[in-house]
Amino acid sequence: MKLNFILTLASLSVITGLVSATSVDLKLKRETSLLIDPAGLPTLPTVNAAKAAASAANINLDDIQGDILIGMLKNMELFFFFGIANATDFKAKLKSDILPLVTSTTQLLDNSTQPITALNIAFSQTGLLALNVTDSMSDVPFAGGQAVDPNLGDPGTTNWVPEFVGTNIHGVILLASDTLDNINSQLASLKSALGDSVTEIYSLQGAARPDNEKGHEHFGFLDGISNPAVVGFRTPLPGQAVVPTGEILVGETGDRITGRPSWAKDGSFLVFRQLKQLVPEFNKFLTDNPIQQPGLTPQNGSDLLGARMMGRWKSGAPVFLAPLADEPELGRDTSRNNDFNYADPTTGLVNTTDQTKCPFSAHIRKTRPRADLGLPENSTSNHHIIRAGIPYGPEVSTEEASSNTTATERGLAFVAYQSSIGNGFQFLQKLWADKTNFVHGNVGFDPIIGANKGASRVVNGLDPTDPTRSITLVTDFVVSRGGEYFFSPSLSAIANTLSV
Ligand SMILES: *[C@@H]1O[C@H](CO)[C@@H](O)[C@H](O)[C@H]1NC(C)=O
Ligand SMILES: *[C@@H]1O[C@H](CO)[C@@H](O)[C@H](O)[C@H]1NC(C)=O
Ligand SMILES: *[C@@H]1O[C@H](CO)[C@@H](O)[C@H](O)[C@H]1NC(C)=O
Ligand SMILES: *[C@@H]1O[C@H](CO)[C@@H](O)[C@H](O)[C@H]1NC(C)=O
Ligand SMILES: *[C@@H]1O[C@H](CO)[C@@H](O)[C@H](O)[C@H]1NC(C)=O
Ligand SMILES: *[C@@H]1O[C@H](CO)[C@@H](O)[C@H](O)[C@H]1NC(C)=O
Ligand SMILES: *[C@@H]1O[C@H](CO)[C@@H](O)[C@H](O)[C@H]1NC(C)=O
Repeated sequence: MKLNFILTLASLSVITGLVSATSVDLKLKRETSLLIDPAGLPTLPTVNAAKAAASAANINLDDIQGDILIGMLKNMELFFFFGIANATDFKAKLKSDILPLVTSTTQLLDNSTQPITALNIAFSQTGLLALNVTDSMSDVPFAGGQAVDPNLGDPGTTNWVPEFVGTNIHGVILLASDTLDNINSQLASLKSALGDSVTEIYSLQGAARPDNEKGHEHFGFLDGISNPAVVGFRTPLPGQAVVPTGEILVGETGDRITGRPSWAKDGSFLVFRQLKQLVPEFNKFLTDNPIQQPGLTPQNGSDLLGARMMGRWKSGAPVFLAPLADEPELGRDTSRNNDFNYADPTTGLVNTTDQTKCPFSAHIRKTRPRADLGLPENSTSNHHIIRAGIPYGPEVSTEEASSNTTATERGLAFVAYQSSIGNGFQFLQKLWADKTNFVHGNVGFDPIIGANKGASRVVNGLDPTDPTRSITLVTDFVVSRGGEYFFSPSLSAIANTLSV
């Protein structure tokens, strides 16, 4: 095993005021970051830059769990879903064994302070109740749980992982590192510390894809470019949406929901979804339906169709800026790959009948319509989330590719953070991705994540040679396997409210 950490007796960077750690993990120091840094995705701010931004916005990055603002940059991540079996016992262990391991934003930003394995924790509504925390979180989807949310386009829970159906998942622990060994040894020590206070319900292991695919989801597209810049954390790159802190963090400037308990401040709602991706089936669909345009080989036409469904080429280059062919240099360039808004740069106006550069239904256009809405990105009628998921499952095998059929499940362990699930994930899925009538008329479903309860989906505008042509997708290439709604509290809320 590669030695990627060194022992240090120096300061353990335990957050002031917290109980000091008993686990050996905090005493080990990293030499390399546990995060990935693929070309084309916004690089993280330095810890000093983030501290300066946080200080100007009066937020405390030491008290905010590390996963919330970091986004999709994990190397390996395990999701451990648990039930609380003995609340008294669990509360004591939450304070003595888990809290010292909870990785803050400040800690995660700098590899000199990163633990060997980062840990975050979040609770479902039934989990808060199990801990005797009865305050209303003023979030209807959270209160009900994801299995009874009728707004997501799932055909009920027939495709769901059985463990997500029901109400017995009380919480999720996220463990992130650069090796499976690190994660497994942290999990083993955690399980032994927690003993019978919890029951293990379900786990999902995620991992960044290998080599040049690092940062790309399983269909092959670079993922996470459009994550917004949150005020108090980072300065925006060209074209990056700037969103008020309170759009993501409860109780901060711009949080539109009132009536939350004071301990919820600086926490964020975590939406988890296990999204299965049918990659060979998706590829066959592209092969069978190439865009036919002079100068394009059938392969070019298939690639173009896939890019127009997503709104970006696999490299990350936006089709609005590169309408005919991928431009890998553009995809890699964070100063340009997000710098467009669907408007004509000279007039500043969106042409509401022109889909030659990008379909109105393209995934990235439906989930972030930019100038289509005619509103500033930080307006309350815009809906932003931080996406922090990771791929799961193996690479496509040669047998799967040649048979056009998925044999082993793979997909995206989807994670989204927001201060309101109803204004964030749920809104984006229900009112934008799944709604056929959208901004410029009947544009059809989002061809990637749009869902129609398992029925076929009509998508318009995909063919640049014939904007009137409708394409019917009989297969969902992304299938929801379910998930749950959680709340990821601040470190001080864990210390002062949830563990007492
Ligand atoms: C942090 O990690 C990066 C990339 O892995 C490396 O270049 C840098 O030297 C590391 N810094 C520290 C302080 O370890
Ligand atoms: C929860 O509250 C009930 C009623 O006040 C009490 O009996 C019980 O001990 C509490 N449990 C915990 C884990 O605090
Ligand atoms: C719960 O844990 C506490 C503390 O370890 C213990 O005293 C109690 O007997 C346990 N309760 C049950 C029902 O096992
Ligand atoms: C078509 O595909 C070929 C081979 O991959 C590539 O070199 C060429 O740039 C593509 N042309 C267009 C217009 O996409
Ligand atoms: C909008 O696009 C259509 C189709 O490309 C074009 O015919 C029309 O002139 C454009 N309208 C404006 C105002 O540019
Ligand atoms: C949105 O951005 C504009 C321009 O930067 C700024 O004046 C305004 O205060 C911002 N609104 C919110 C809600 O942050
Ligand atoms: C897989 O799909 C391709 C494209 O439609 C087709 O040419 C090939 O025959 C299919 N393979 C099998 C085993 O069905």
